[in-house]
Amino acid sequence: MSRYAHITGWGVALPEHVLTNKDLEQMVDTSDEWIVSRTGIRERRIASPDQTTASLGADAAVEALKVAGLKPTDVDLIIVASSSPEHIFPATACIVQDIIGATRAGAFDISAACSGFIFALNMAAQAIRTGSINNAVVIGAETLSRIVNWQDRNTCILFGDGAGAFVLQASGEPGGVLEAVMHADGSGADVLSLPAGGSKLPTSADTVAHGLHYVHMDGRPVFRFATRVMAEATQEVVAKAGLTLDDIDLIVPHQANYRILEVAARGLKMPMDKFMVNLDRYGNTSTASIPIAAAEAAEKGRLRRGDKVVLVGFGGGLTYGALLAEWTGPLPDRPEVNPERYRLWAKVRSTGLRLKRKVLSQTLGEDKLGG
Ligand code: ACO
Repeated sequence: MSRYAHITGWGVALPEHVLTNKDLEQMVDTSDEWIVSRTGIRERRIASPDQTTASLGADAAVEALKVAGLKPTDVDLIIVASSSPEHIFPATACIVQDIIGATRAGAFDISAACSGFIFALNMAAQAIRTGSINNAVVIGAETLSRIVNWQDRNTCILFGDGAGAFVLQASGEPGGVLEAVMHADGSGADVLSLPAGGSKLPTSADTVAHGLHYVHMDGRPVFRFATRVMAEATQEVVAKAGLTLDDIDLIVPHQANYRILEVAARGLKMPMDKFMVNLDRYGNTSTASIPIAAAEAAEKGRLRRGDKVVLVGFGGGLTYGALLAEWTGPLPDRPEVNPERYRLWAKVRSTGLRLKRKVLSQTLGEDKLGG
C-alpha cells in the first residue's frame, strides 16, 4: 500500500519583544522609509535572554503537537533546521527532544540556511513514505539576533527571531507532501555566511575583533540569485508533480524581502494575493519564516484541507528549493492531548537522568564502566 506524509499540525513561537524600524533608527544610520521601501519589513521579534533557538523550537513543536493531537511520545523523528543553532553540536533537535519529552524520537539538525525547513520537511516526508517512521516533527527555529552585528545596517535591519513547526503523519490516504526539489550552488558560499566559529576559522580574539562571528552578507548577489530561483524552483516542483500553476491555491515563500516576492510573482505571472506575506511583522526569520507564514495562513483560513500549496525558499549555501503539498490539517479522529503535561514530566525525567549520570561517573571507576 502506498504511504503518504500528511501535514496534520502546525505551531509557532514568537518572542514578545517587538523591535520596530523606528527603534533601529536609534541604533544605526537608517530610516523607516529606507527599510520599508527596500525590504517591506516594518518590525521584527527579538528573543528575551532566557529564550534560545531550542526553547523557541520546543514551544512551536508543542503547539504543533496540540493541533495534531499527538503525544510527544508518539514522535519518531525530530528535525530542526536552523541558521542560528544552539551549538555546533549537539544538535538543537536533541535539546528539543529532551525539553518536550519525545523519548522515542531520533533527532538531528539540517543546515541549509533559509532553505532548511523545506529540505527538512522533504527528508521527514521521505522517511514516512518509505515506511521507516510514522510521525515526525519538523522545526525551523532561529535566534538570529544573537549572530547579527547590531552596528551593521546592511544586515541588522533584515532579521528577526522565532520558530515554526509542522507535524507530519503517515497515512494510506493520498495527499500531504507530493513533490520537492532541492538545489545548491556552493560557488556562492561566500556571499552569505557566518565566517568564524567553525573549523576553517576557529573562534579567536582576532576573529571576534574583526566581527567574523556575525552574519556577513553581500546583499546584491543574494538579491539577484533569489529573484531568479524563486520562480524557477516553483515552476520545477509544480511540473514535477504533473500540475500547472493554475492548480496552486497558495504560495508560501521564504519571507526575506517584499521586492524579491514581487519579482517572483511577475516571473510566474501570478497575482501577489496568491503569496502569503507576513515579513512586514517578523522580518526574515530564516528557516522559521515558511512555517510561521504557513501557520498564519492556516489560522486565517487561507490554507484549507485539499488546497495545493507550494513552499519555496532560498538562502545561504547558496541553497534553494520548493515543496508542493496538498494541505491536510488536523485529522478528524485525533484524540485530545496536552503535550504541556509531558513537558513537565520531561523536565523531571531529564533532571533525574543528569543526576544519575553524574553520580555514576563519580562513584564508578574506569574498570567498572568497562573502560
Ligand atoms: N539604511 C540606509 N541605507 C542603507 C542601509 C540601511 N539599513 N543598508 C544599506 N544602505 C545603503 C548602502 O550603503 C548603499 O549606499 P551607497 O549607494 O552609498 O553604497 C545604498 O543603501 C544601497 O545599497 P544596496 O545594497 O544597493 O541596496 P539594495 O536596494 O540592494 O537593498 C538589501 C539591500 C535589502 C539587503 C537587498 O540587497 C536584499 O534584500 N538582498 C537580499 C538579502 C536577503 O534576502 N538575504 C537573506 C538571505 S536568506 C539567508 O540565508 C539568511
